[in-house]
Amino acid sequence: MRNSALKLGFQFVACAIASYCTTQTALAQKLAGKGLKDYYKSYFPIGVAVAPRNLSGEEGRFIVKQFNSLTPENAMKMGPIHPRPNQYYWQDADSIVSFARHNGLRVRGHNLCWHEQTPDWIFKDSTGKQVSKQVLLQRLRDHIHTVVKRYKGKIYAWDVVNEAIDDNPNKFLRNSLWYQICGEDFIAKAFEYAHEADPKAVLFYNDYNTERPEKMERVYKLLKKLVDAKVPVHAVGLQAHWSLQEPSGTELRNTIEKFASLGLKVQITEMDVSIYPWEKERRPLHPGEKGELTSELEQKQIAKYKEVFDILRQYKKVITGVTFWNVSDRYTWLDEYPVQGRKNFPLLFDTNLQPKKAYYEVVNFKR
Ligand code: GLA
Repeated sequence: MRNSALKLGFQFVACAIASYCTTQTALAQKLAGKGLKDYYKSYFPIGVAVAPRNLSGEEGRFIVKQFNSLTPENAMKMGPIHPRPNQYYWQDADSIVSFARHNGLRVRGHNLCWHEQTPDWIFKDSTGKQVSKQVLLQRLRDHIHTVVKRYKGKIYAWDVVNEAIDDNPNKFLRNSLWYQICGEDFIAKAFEYAHEADPKAVLFYNDYNTERPEKMERVYKLLKKLVDAKVPVHAVGLQAHWSLQEPSGTELRNTIEKFASLGLKVQITEMDVSIYPWEKERRPLHPGEKGELTSELEQKQIAKYKEVFDILRQYKKVITGVTFWNVSDRYTWLDEYPVQGRKNFPLLFDTNLQPKKAYYEVVNFKR
């Protein structure tokens, strides 16, 4: 009698342990199987900027698990994709689009008209003289038509014009060669050409520091002009190269609301949260300056990520996508810029592709 009671007791405990273990394993498996994109399924797609080298092996599988949208980091910029007048280089861009299609991810095209990573030839004639406005607009049209039509139906959104606002708060449009040769017309024209080439594509104006009140006002002024003139601009990209210091929650809300008031959708297009304050000019590494995610910086980064994602979720009606600029802290463009060789840790995954504490804050919310 005592023996069988003991046996029963053991069985009960063994069963309880087994069922606890199964539940834990199931939970771990469930969590292990879930990516960032799954937590945000009823909010917005979660994207990442990639180069072809990111798409194979472990990193490729990791991207498919965590994200459901891709932006080519460089491959579709005018310089890389159209290096000479009659020569396009499609290989990198094609490989990103085909990876996305094969794995069921959407693609944002980036970008069609910018003052950087633009080939010199586009502004010059065969004698090296600057071309006329008419010639430049014709070249812009040819470029946009060729690139957008190639990916029609495969790319759902394009950053059409990137960073046309000046860095000087007292100036309006950037004095780029586009502006010097065409005046502000190049902006509206770029949108018109993109719309002709793919009437279904969602067309974006994309810029940085858009949450700083003075810059927000200037971006708003440009967008309002375009909207009033019935230019086919549909959305605005907040690049979101943020830091522990900015933007504040109020600045972010104000920006989203202000742009949405024009009837535009909003996407976060290039998100990272630098552990250093914003600097624009390149400079050498200071003696003793080393890149380290101290626990103090880590806490601040966790808090900033939590704050901004809490806000983004509240605006899910307006926000149609959030894209990170690079996959993980293993490589970020901020390792080189603006201070070459200063390691940064701005993303949600660490150098081993493991979720950081900030990741858990971002996915831990009431659904
Ligand atoms: C800007 C551009 C991006 C990228 C980043 C830096 O934000 O829009 O394409 O070049 O700078 O990497």
